[in-house]
Amino acid sequence: MMQVCVSGPISLTPWRSSDQAACIERISDREIYEQTLRIPYPYTAEHFDQWFHIVAEATARHGMPVHFAIRDGESLIGGVGFDGLTQGHRAEIGYWLARPWRGRGIMTAVVGKACEHALAEWNLVRIIARVFDTNLASARVLEKNGFESEGFLRKHELKDGRFINTRLFALVR
Ligand SMILES: CC(C)(COP(=O)(O)OP(=O)(O)OC[C@H]1O[C@@H](n2cnc3c(N)ncnc32)[C@H](O)[C@@H]1OP(=O)(O)O)[C@@H](O)C(=O)NCCC(=O)NCCS
Repeated sequence: MMQVCVSGPISLTPWRSSDQAACIERISDREIYEQTLRIPYPYTAEHFDQWFHIVAEATARHGMPVHFAIRDGESLIGGVGFDGLTQGHRAEIGYWLARPWRGRGIMTAVVGKACEHALAEWNLVRIIARVFDTNLASARVLEKNGFESEGFLRKHELKDGRFINTRLFALVR
């Protein structure tokens, strides 16, 4: 089973069906919902089962895990993963971290290790991230990992009846 060490007790592993209860507890957060496009709120067992199915399909399609659980020891505390890998040379990163673990540099380290893994193992040359313009913490995480801003996409997303300006970031090798 593959595992990526991040720092101290923090690591990335494949998702497990036993993550359901911790995932529901930690991802059910209005702020996570408001800063992302595909994470429902409130988050139910059915949502987790759908997510687990998507993860299994992506793993089968790519022949390796592309979505990872972030763990503190054995405990699930967040998620990080890649979409859009079918092009071969590029992908898009997405992530969330449970509230009690924020503000300690964990996601900065996680994004660094995840990108290092993706660039080295999958031979990518470009990783993108899209961030709502209000999400200053996420933009900072990307900048600290060498991502550069490539554009400000006005009214790019439509969520709950409101247009959202989105920043495009990229890490290019
Ligand atoms: C965004 C998120 C992943 C950050 O995780 P984290 O582990 O707290 O991030 P880090 O501690 O590594 O770094 C956060 C940086 O943002 C800064 N920051 C935090 N809140 C900020 C704010 N309101 N304004 C400006 N900077 C802010 C921190 O100071 C830190 O930068 P620094 O090291 O230069 O001081 C986490 O808050 C989260 O999961 N949010 C909800 C889901 C989400 O937004 N996902 C990403 C969608 S694109």
